[in-house]
Amino acid sequence: MKILLLGSGGLLGGYLAKAFTAPGNQLSALTHGEADITDTGKLDRLFGDSWDVVINAAAVCDFDACERDPEGTTRVNRDAPLDLARRCAAGGSLFVQYSSDYIFDGEGKKPLTEQDSPSPLSVYGHQKSDLEKLVPGVCPRSLVLRLSWLYGVGGKTFMSKMPDLFAAQDSLRTAAGKKGSCLYAADGALWTKRLVEAGHTGLFNLVNHGETSWEEFARECLQQMQLLALAPAGRRIEEVSYEELGPGWRKRPRYSCLDTAKLARALPPGPRPWREALGEFLAEWKSVAAHRPV
Ligand SMILES: NC(=O)c1ccc[n+]([C@@H]2O[C@H](COP(=O)([O-])OP(=O)(O)OC[C@H]3O[C@@H](n4cnc5c(N)ncnc54)[C@H](OP(=O)(O)O)[C@@H]3O)[C@@H](O)[C@H]2O)c1
Repeated sequence: MKILLLGSGGLLGGYLAKAFTAPGNQLSALTHGEADITDTGKLDRLFGDSWDVVINAAAVCDFDACERDPEGTTRVNRDAPLDLARRCAAGGSLFVQYSSDYIFDGEGKKPLTEQDSPSPLSVYGHQKSDLEKLVPGVCPRSLVLRLSWLYGVGGKTFMSKMPDLFAAQDSLRTAAGKKGSCLYAADGALWTKRLVEAGHTGLFNLVNHGETSWEEFARECLQQMQLLALAPAGRRIEEVSYEELGPGWRKRPRYSCLDTAKLARALPPGPRPWREALGEFLAEWKSVAAHRPV
């Protein structure tokens, strides 16, 4: 398979680059510095080649940056992926794009399926919801994978940083009452690869199995770290209300659990439970931390 991966310097991009490095694959993994997805001249040159699969892991994921600069970030998060989708359709490539649980308003009470209607509250949520709506029309041979609370070694997200924070600080502050689903980026990459290899197209929720909350994830992370002697006893978890966290938080869904039944039907048994994935993340974090200079 000949694969073009854009945004390979990011959290998911790094794991995707590892997952797709396999005998029989010809992978071109390009970072932001090597290929800006809004640079149409660069894309003209890249699409002078033909690709079996084009994976777009590039995005502006900074929620506040999207609120501050809707126009600039929409060029990256909506317009450029649609341009990629058009180019894939013209060249006969499979296009893989990522969406987010932020397409929902958080008012639901049961896990959200691929059939539930988006109702975004934020600029970032609107950008992703537009992609979910438009990509399949532009490029019918596409996979749109809806992720949530992504974490992994080297990531900038709250959950990615949790082990470092627990190792270094007495207490950790988390948003109170934020419920949803999480995804270890290594699993995100693995299931992307499985879906591509099995020839699936369409929209899939892609998260580790099971609901959690930020507070429960933090508690489980701390417990597992303490069992492995990676964090001392006596660490505290402090829950902070949305109101206290600031006005921007009103636009982040409080409830956004994603139902993985469709993915489990397509590729049984579907992604593993989140606690198991968290354990593997901590093992990876430990092995990387052991090699960090003191
Ligand atoms: N993180 C989450 O919790 C989460 C949740 C749901 C869905 N997702 C989605 O999952 C996908 C991967 O997210 P991630 O967490 O891996 O993001 P990430 O770690 O922030 O990586 C995104 C990468 O895109 C690059 N980038 C930004 N603008 C670009 C441009 N114009 N051209 C090329 N590259 C550009 C960034 O480079 P610079 O750092 O140099 O700007 C970065 O390397 C995204 O579509 C995201 O929306 C993420």
